Amino acid sequence: MVKNTEINLSAFSRDLKKAPSDAVVIGVGQGSDGPALLENPLTAKSAEALSESLKVLGVTGAADQLVRLPGLPETGAGVIVLAGVGKIRDGQQLSEETLRRAAGSAVRQLAGLTTVVLALPTAGVADVAAVAEGAAMGAYSFTEYRSSTDGLKEPVRNVAVFTEFAADKGLQPALTRAALIGKAVNATRSLVNQPPSHLYPESFAEAAKELSKGLPVKVTVWDEKRLEKEGFGGIMGVGKGSTRQPRLVKVEYAPTKATAKIALVGKGITFDTGGISIKPALGMGDMKSDMAGAAVVLNTVLAIAGLGLPVKATAWLCIAENMPSGAASRPADVLTMFGGKTVEVLNTDAEGRLVMADGIVAASQEFPDAIIDVATLTGAQLIALGNRTAGVMGADSVTGPLKAAADRAGELVWPMPLPEELRPSIDSQVADLANIGERHGGMMTAAVFLREFVGKGKDGEPIPWAHIDIAGPSFNNGSPYGYTHKQGTGCTVRTLLAYVEDVLAQAA
Ligand code: BES
Ligand code: MN
Ligand code: ZN
Repeated sequence: MVKNTEINLSAFSRDLKKAPSDAVVIGVGQGSDGPALLENPLTAKSAEALSESLKVLGVTGAADQLVRLPGLPETGAGVIVLAGVGKIRDGQQLSEETLRRAAGSAVRQLAGLTTVVLALPTAGVADVAAVAEGAAMGAYSFTEYRSSTDGLKEPVRNVAVFTEFAADKGLQPALTRAALIGKAVNATRSLVNQPPSHLYPESFAEAAKELSKGLPVKVTVWDEKRLEKEGFGGIMGVGKGSTRQPRLVKVEYAPTKATAKIALVGKGITFDTGGISIKPALGMGDMKSDMAGAAVVLNTVLAIAGLGLPVKATAWLCIAENMPSGAASRPADVLTMFGGKTVEVLNTDAEGRLVMADGIVAASQEFPDAIIDVATLTGAQLIALGNRTAGVMGADSVTGPLKAAADRAGELVWPMPLPEELRPSIDSQVADLANIGERHGGMMTAAVFLREFVGKGKDGEPIPWAHIDIAGPSFNNGSPYGYTHKQGTGCTVRTLLAYVEDVLAQAA
């Protein structure tokens, strides 16, 4: 399970002819006067001829457009590929995310070729890194469950970035980081794409161990007996309707020279039927992706360990399968959560917050500097922010830096408030809390519920906490675009990694 082939990333500034490839990719932007060929390694004469024929060739420069032309003697490649980067402003450089998407889109659409040169405009090492990251995320496929791969195109294996910064001393570390990010994002996607017949709590825990092999991390798995004994009532309450018993997985990276301590908690519902409050049949299969948060926090900690960052980082994977059965929780049942708070389960489909509550309490007991939880928590997230933008809620001291990190990483997140009037809506007639409340703004109601489980730090103040709802952006059931493929997207890994790097830069 989860074996993705890795991409080879390199950079060069030599003559194109000396770097033979299957295709050389050149950018085209949508300028104010129509399509514009971007800075490229062609001879001035060829570039001019190409520029003049863009319109006739039907090249618009729109994002995701890809037009293949015969190669020129100077390119050392059989094919020239014109890749649209979208709207450009005359005289302005492309943003890193524009480069990431253009590179990712080209590499994704060029599947079937082996070696590709990306000759997009780069104004520094950060731009080269963005191109490389986009390429690494574009080179992905999920074929594990095909009986034959005949006729399927394999992802591009080798990508060389053409750039004048090839010899810069920051380049190798930047390429290494890009490859690692690609690996973490693709591993997240492959976990999300797994069918629930094969990915269930026990096998997810095994996959976490497997992915951790060779890295300096410690993996601890709570099975159902230990969960029951230690009082993880949220995870057990959700999982007990399934024949596949729940798990809690803790993945710890604790280097000796750490300057910060971060806990990440992820929702790992391997399939969400809704339980007794069962979901409608239409689109229920997408609920195999309800473990995306756990896959994200797992792969983020593994990437942090792979990079050897000086931070203590712990991932808590709260894993269960939400099924209806004679053993399942009923609406009106009361659960005693880890730490002792009681919750009346008024809707068994609001299960994510129940498993996450246990995970947040467990994470709090270790007094981290901050807790960030990631969950496909609510359909209301999609109503509020759509398919592609994650919602972030919680303490300003965490949500602010998270938004900044997302901007830097090129991911879409948006801060939402936690209005006080929502809190009474989760009062229960019989227990400390109810698991549902105000329906309008339901993404925020869910976050207000989670906030009740965030513990106090050694200073007696609540531990700084943020919640990221990725219900929409974690799964693409539309067409592919940029570096984003169908199904699992691997979103939020890059934001969390950038957040940790920013925290460390502050501490240094
Ligand atoms: N896993 C779902 C949320 C979800 C919906 C994720 C669509 C991805 C796409 C979650 O467990 C759920 O069912 N939430 C309920 C909560 C409600 C009962 C308060 C919802 O959003 O309908
Ligand atoms: Mn649900
Ligand atoms: Zn769910």
